[in-house]
Amino acid sequence: MNDDALRTSIAGIDLTSPILLAAGTAGVLSEMRDVLDPSKLGGIVTKSITKEVRQGNPFPRITFSRAGMMNAIGLANPGIDGFVRDEGPKAATMGCPIIGSVAGDCLDDYVEVATRLASIDGVRAIEANVSCPNVHSGLEFGSDPAALKDLISAMSGAIGDIPMFVKLSPVTVGTPNTIVDLARVAIESGARGLTLTNTVPAMGIDVRTRKPILANVTGGLSGPAIHPIVVRLVHLVYRGLAKDAGVPIIAAGGVTRWEDAAEFILAGASVVQIGAGSFASPRASVKMRKGLAKWVRTQGASSVSDLVGQVKLD
Ligand SMILES: Cc1cc2nc3c(=O)[nH]c(=O)nc-3n(C[C@H](O)[C@H](O)[C@H](O)COP(=O)(O)O)c2cc1C
Repeated sequence: MNDDALRTSIAGIDLTSPILLAAGTAGVLSEMRDVLDPSKLGGIVTKSITKEVRQGNPFPRITFSRAGMMNAIGLANPGIDGFVRDEGPKAATMGCPIIGSVAGDCLDDYVEVATRLASIDGVRAIEANVSCPNVHSGLEFGSDPAALKDLISAMSGAIGDIPMFVKLSPVTVGTPNTIVDLARVAIESGARGLTLTNTVPAMGIDVRTRKPILANVTGGLSGPAIHPIVVRLVHLVYRGLAKDAGVPIIAAGGVTRWEDAAEFILAGASVVQIGAGSFASPRASVKMRKGLAKWVRTQGASSVSDLVGQVKLD
């Protein structure tokens, strides 16, 4: 199905669907090609890539809970050399825009990885992951406005015309800043899209062994449990900043059905990403196209973009 109601664009990139696959949940880049047709997707976000190869945290590092899943993968990835060598040549053949996700321990590493990813044919945007709860220093850049400003200014300066999206944490407790404050810093520093959000820091305990379920002790919760939390954050950032700034929101958090995607769009997201939903149903991102397109038409709109932020508040 090729439905015009789903066509949209973010930061100048045309998409055939507002549904993308979220970082770290679709393999490194090309693995989902075995189970679905990527041309039916709005895009694929790569696994977050770091400068060096990372083995990630010890196992167990994924567990499924009643309302989603918890992970502490710890950014396992082939490193930028391995990515450029093994996955880079596939990017332009995937049939949908590729967004290169970047993580790192220091500003120079982020800049180097972003620059190399941005030069790959088929990589249309960079997503700066400044919100990983599962690695030491993973949240540092995303919660400190001064560090965020330096990082995003340096990255966006280095990648030139390729747009950069900044992926924030849903949790700003313990910092004096709200997510709107941090999003404002990101935009003022050159971000052309805001990915809201990463996982919610969480923990599970096996009551029989009395041990933490994840070897890392804590992890990040995703899936349906976090969806209403992220809907509120999208709403706050859209109304408080992104709408007037004209910067698109890319929502991630518990999308498993077309209704979840529609809810994010009404709250202010231009597009959505699916993470945990692909683990539960690997083709969910493609299957929900039909329901979403029908919803757009029954709302009297010709394009999904007409419904962005259209929640009725009175
Ligand atoms: C197994 C797993 C691995 C993830 N790896 C990354 C990653 O490498 N980089 C990143 O920015 N987010 C990562 N995430 C977070 C997702 O991209 C997404 O932001 C989050 O899971 C919320 O969406 P969801 O509820 O649809 O899963 C990961 C999530 C899961 C479940």
